[in-house]
Amino acid sequence: MPQETIQNKQIHIEFEEKNPSFTPYNGYNKPKFYGRRKGRIIRKAKTTLLESFLPSIKITDKSELNKDKLFGTPVEKIALEIGFGDGQHLAGQAKNHPEIGFIGAEVFQNGVANLLTLLTGIKEGTHLPEKINLEEGRVDNIRVFDDDIRLLFQQIPDAFLDKVYILFPDPWPKKRHANRRLVNPDNLKEIARILKKGGILRIATDHKIYKGWALRQVKENGNFVWTAKCGNDWKKEPEDWVQTKYELKALREGRRPVFLDFEKI
Ligand SMILES: C[S@@+](CC[C@H](N)C(=O)[O-])C[C@H]1O[C@@H](n2cnc3c(N)ncnc32)[C@H](O)[C@@H]1O
Repeated sequence: MPQETIQNKQIHIEFEEKNPSFTPYNGYNKPKFYGRRKGRIIRKAKTTLLESFLPSIKITDKSELNKDKLFGTPVEKIALEIGFGDGQHLAGQAKNHPEIGFIGAEVFQNGVANLLTLLTGIKEGTHLPEKINLEEGRVDNIRVFDDDIRLLFQQIPDAFLDKVYILFPDPWPKKRHANRRLVNPDNLKEIARILKKGGILRIATDHKIYKGWALRQVKENGNFVWTAKCGNDWKKEPEDWVQTKYELKALREGRRPVFLDFEKI
């Protein structure tokens, strides 16, 4: 094995050993998760960010989910992005809307590490400071839950959120895997509970089956109305949109995404 790979592997193992309970939810009866939790080896800068910076913005079971206390700055509204992937949309929205507090949930460790890179500007090769703070100029309106959203739902009060984003969820296209889809009756029940009346659930997908599935599931839930009045309302990127990694991949591969906004009634 090349020297560099051995070194990276060691960093990865050390990180795991120092963080045996990467999430504080080990005591809970975790629901089964079918996606990837870890991917490629996480190199030094990202490991440092996960160790030194993530704790300052991480939501744990001790966090008070309170609009005035959760973020570093006062916020007027709160939004939740479920499955933020590499974090481009979350970081972009937070930068464009300092008046909104954003909660991002993502199980994939490499994705969380990538978001931290976007928030701090610290990449591989950057000089690593002893302590990584939320210095001036860094957005302080993001908090991260680095685990399965289903574990956080139980902590979120009723009518707490103004907006929920589910962007390009894994399609699980096979019929027998449909129960693995993020948009499902149980999750929609929770989302309807934690969204305020008039709040928006935005689902984006590039997958035909998922589009029909999402529309049906949300309709069956009964707590939402689809806001679209004409084709442009769901075929075009919304005005406040920030592109995501999976959207760009879909466009490169010739798939047209749809953007479905539902209002909580
Ligand atoms: C296809 S990726 C899309 C990522 C990103 N939204 C984008 O558009 O680039 C779906 C993401 O959802 C995450 N995910 C799936 N189920 C989740 C769950 N129950 N809780 C938190 N994240 C989840 C996956 O780890 C994955 O990163």
